[in-house]
Amino acid sequence: MDHAIRIAPSLLAADFSRLGEEVRSVEAAGADWLHLDVMDGHFVPNLTFGPSITAAIKKCASKPLDVHLMITDPWRYADAFLDAGADLLTFHIEVAPNGDVGALLAHIKQRGKKAGLSVQPDTDCRLLAPYVDQLDLVLVMSVFAGFGGQKFMPSVLPKVAELRRLGFGGEVSMDGGIGASTIGDAARAGTNAFVAGTAVFGAADRTARIAELRQLATAARTAR
Ligand code: DX5
Ligand code: ZN
Repeated sequence: MDHAIRIAPSLLAADFSRLGEEVRSVEAAGADWLHLDVMDGHFVPNLTFGPSITAAIKKCASKPLDVHLMITDPWRYADAFLDAGADLLTFHIEVAPNGDVGALLAHIKQRGKKAGLSVQPDTDCRLLAPYVDQLDLVLVMSVFAGFGGQKFMPSVLPKVAELRRLGFGGEVSMDGGIGASTIGDAARAGTNAFVAGTAVFGAADRTARIAELRQLATAARTAR
């Protein structure tokens, strides 16, 4: 169950006026995935971008696009993001009252892409139980979704073991406040994919920062 370590810079922390250069910069610095934070102003109190910016990023990206939909109605927009080039499409379990979660996961998979569900810090992981066999990835929020630059919440760490107890064997990603002082705890808890916005884009030397994060995650996992 030891999945590859993935460092996924969140473009939310990029300079949007130079998005193409920022994508090339973090890819050259060693990013494994590019994390795209889509916010609709309803599910979260913030707005970011939609399918057209996603398609523009796809044009200059060579690494997989890890698209994190923080939106109330992923059923309405999933195809637009898949058409735009999402390789991994994740939406939030908290929107389950709005539609058929299993059907949307099946649709994403049927389009040949990877499917993920995300859980907010105060959401019970057991809500994911019906879907564990359909999911490629679970994105555990280590801050409340909506903004970059928030403080990591260690209280979410036990969720990774809970997911394993539910029988989930896929990749576990953690998102929010991940940096040199927190990635070790996330890795020890069983996380293999690490979303980092501020920690990567704010670094003077992005190559060194990604290498440091990867090394800290690897060391913490080995010590488990
Ligand atoms: C928060 C987003 C995160 C965020 C991470 O809603 O899902 O991806 O941008 O940013 P940092 O690493 O700065 O906490
Ligand atoms: Zn995110």
